[in-house]
Amino acid sequence: MRLPVLLTCLLAACLAEAPHPCESPPLLTGALTVSTQNEKLLTYAKYLYDALGRRVRLLELGTYENKTFTYDVLLHYREATMYEIHAHNRTCKKMPLKVEFHPLSIPKGATLLGQVVVGSSSGPGQGLLVNSWMGDLPDKSGKYLSVVTEFGCIPVSSTYQTKEYGWVLTSFFDNVIGIEDPNLLNVPSFCSEGEGKEEQTEPVDFFSLFQNKK
Ligand SMILES: *[C@@H]1O[C@H](CO)[C@@H](O)[C@H](O)[C@H]1NC(C)=O
Ligand SMILES: *[C@@H]1O[C@H](CO)[C@@H](O)[C@H](O)[C@H]1NC(C)=O
Repeated sequence: MRLPVLLTCLLAACLAEAPHPCESPPLLTGALTVSTQNEKLLTYAKYLYDALGRRVRLLELGTYENKTFTYDVLLHYREATMYEIHAHNRTCKKMPLKVEFHPLSIPKGATLLGQVVVGSSSGPGQGLLVNSWMGDLPDKSGKYLSVVTEFGCIPVSSTYQTKEYGWVLTSFFDNVIGIEDPNLLNVPSFCSEGEGKEEQTEPVDFFSLFQNKK
């Protein structure tokens, strides 16, 4: 009686393959929000993410300690340089970028918390199948919790512990695979050498990009 066995297998266990850690698509465009447990920061940003060229652009609109701010920044990790861009007056500030590039991914050592449906599984289009993972931050300073879609490893949310802000939650949405406007990842012409350029030696980490630094 081989057939029933095969059939049972096909319907259940054989299809239910356990989720694996995964890497998100190398080119993404979309939006995200960042909020902190201590309620100091809430920001909405459009983002462009290029893991091949190691470039990120963030166009933020947020509040920090109840003050609203806008912040436009271009990160070139290979050159260890970031550009704070003021499009309205065509100036920019060039600064050293002292952080490593971390691709959007679920690291190999992550622990699977579970596979769940966000929304509802009652009708077509009502739900999204996602995998929840957790693990220790690379410097062991706390934990992270990351949620990605089962199909495509698209980031849904990411939460991690910080000393200064408590849990920091990033939620991703409206993600599109690819770079919609590649020009936004290039250094604007008005940032070129000798034009409105300002050196600043203060090192920058990724999280400080979400604060009003004025
Ligand atoms: C922000 O505003 C809220 C409500 O008005 C207030 O309770 C809180 O103390 C303010 N926080 C800061 C950092 O000013
Ligand atoms: C351009 O705008 C930024 C941000 O508002 C400001 O800090 C900077 O001083 C301005 N630069 C010039 C040359 O006006």
